[in-house]
This record gives sequence, C-alpha cells and structure tokens, in this order.
Amino acid sequence: MYDGDIELGRNDECWCGSGKKYKKCHLEFDERLQKLAEAGESVPPRALLKTPSEIEAIKRSAQVNVGVLDLVAERIGVGTTTAEIDAWVHDYTVGHGAIPAPLDYEGFPKSVCTSVNDVVCHGIPDPHETLKSGDIVNVDCSTILDGYYSDSSRMFCIGDVADDVRRLVDATKEAVQLGLEQVKPWGHLGDVGAVINDYARQHGYSVVREFGGHGIGLDFHEEPFVSFVTRPGTGWVLVPGLMFTIEPMINMGKHKIDMSDPNGWTVRTKDGLPTAQWEVQVVVTEDGYELISW
Ligand code: MF3
Ligand code: CO
Repeated sequence: MYDGDIELGRNDECWCGSGKKYKKCHLEFDERLQKLAEAGESVPPRALLKTPSEIEAIKRSAQVNVGVLDLVAERIGVGTTTAEIDAWVHDYTVGHGAIPAPLDYEGFPKSVCTSVNDVVCHGIPDPHETLKSGDIVNVDCSTILDGYYSDSSRMFCIGDVADDVRRLVDATKEAVQLGLEQVKPWGHLGDVGAVINDYARQHGYSVVREFGGHGIGLDFHEEPFVSFVTRPGTGWVLVPGLMFTIEPMINMGKHKIDMSDPNGWTVRTKDGLPTAQWEVQVVVTEDGYELISW
C-alpha cells in the first residue's frame, strides 16, 4: 500500500477491529486511498486512522478533559491565580484516574497551560499571577486516560473585558466553528486553515504561523501539523478516522511572536497586543465530523 503498510488478503480479518473479512469491510476504502495516493494526493497513513474501538477509548479520555474545563469555568474569576487553576486541573484529572498530559511533557513543569492577555500559548501557571478584571486567559487542558489522549482549550474573560478584546475572543471561537464546518470526508485539511485565516483577516486580525493543531489520540502530538494559514484544496485528504485538533491562535495585531522568555516555554505576541485561542478535537466521519473534546 501507499503507506508501506502490509496488504491484507481478501479473506483476512480487517485491520479496523470489526472482526469482518477485509473484502467485506475496508478493502474498497483502502483501494480508494491507494488511488488518491497514486494521483499525488497526501493521504494519511492508515495507522493514524482511528478505529471505532480507539475512538470509544479516546472519548472516555475526552470526558475527563471536558470535565476539567467545565470545572475551571465554574470556578475561575477575578482573584484566581493561575497556580490555582493548575491545582484544580491536576486534582480533577488524577481524581478521575487520568494523567494531565502537559506535566513533565518535554520538561513542562505544570499540568495545564494558562496563557494570559498577550501570551499566545504555553503560559506556565504561577502562584504570583493573579487574574484581574479585564484579563483574558486561555486554559489549555490535555488528558491521558488508559493511554488515550484528548486535548482542548477555552478562553475565559475575567470581570469587565474591553469590547475590542472580547470581540477578539468571540471571533476566535467563531473561526474554530467555521473551520469545523470545513471538516468533510474526502475534503482537504487546507480547507480548514483557509477559512480560519480568511475570517481572521477580515476582522483585521492575524493568525500565528509557528504553532497549530496536530493529530492526536494514540499520542499527544501526532501527524499532521495543522496550520491555520493554508490554501483550500491543499494538505492531507480528510479521510474518515483521521483525528486532529483545530486550535488557531489569533492575534489582535501582527502575527509575529516572541519566544525569548528565559523559561523556554511562554510565547508572547511580538507587538504586545492580546491574542486568543480556542481548541477542539475532532474526528472525520463518513458524513462530516464528530467533536471529541471542546
Ligand atoms: N496543549 C498544547 C496543545 O494544544 C500543547 C502544550 S505542550 C505543553 O497542543 F507542554 F506545554 F503542555
Ligand atoms: Co493541542
């Protein structure tokens, strides 16, 4: 096959775990992938296409992931420190038999990323960082349950947020929704980034280039890298079973970022203007998409 993986015999058991014979299950599907690959399309390797039982297990992980963010939503407000958010995330996750994926990930010291105002991503929770009225914060939770990964993030507006900043937060959420609507079987991943970039630009905003979404499920960051600055009709074919995140970082000002923080993690906007991000995890289905976590 195009992905270098073995070819099954017609009467072998299908790779998807259905227990059916290959010819009665994914043979035709695989032939379609093979043809697309031969036509020069970028086709995901079959190992990245999630089987129904993998999707079920990832959804159990996502239940904890969404639960964490619901808890943060209930509690967050003026006076919350980002270290408190970290403690809530850690305790809820561990209390539900799961592991916070960021903790010790490539040396990341905490269980969640908290990115305030001009912090684009990877903010480190800090007991001295207290949220005040007018702040916006992204809380990015990633969860491992029984070895399966889920990942989503939300923005929170603290107290009275200036209208233009609130509009950035709302537009970023809307951009994710528009991106989701582009997730159609046999479409292209580049369709997602194209609508998000267009929408951001129409509002006078810009989209961060260096960071983006990613495949996810059996690992934290799988292929593909999901850019939100793409052209329609380009990139990987959206094959049913492909799972990835949509998580654009949209800046009020210019797209340039500053990665010079000595902690090695915190990414800021170069111009110091606010930035927003929402993240959802999605799987391509036979007739569209299914949200896994949000
Ligand atoms: N949660 C981030 C993402 O959406 C990754 C954070 S990596 C960490 O992909 F180490 F900073 F946690
Ligand atoms: Co992510």
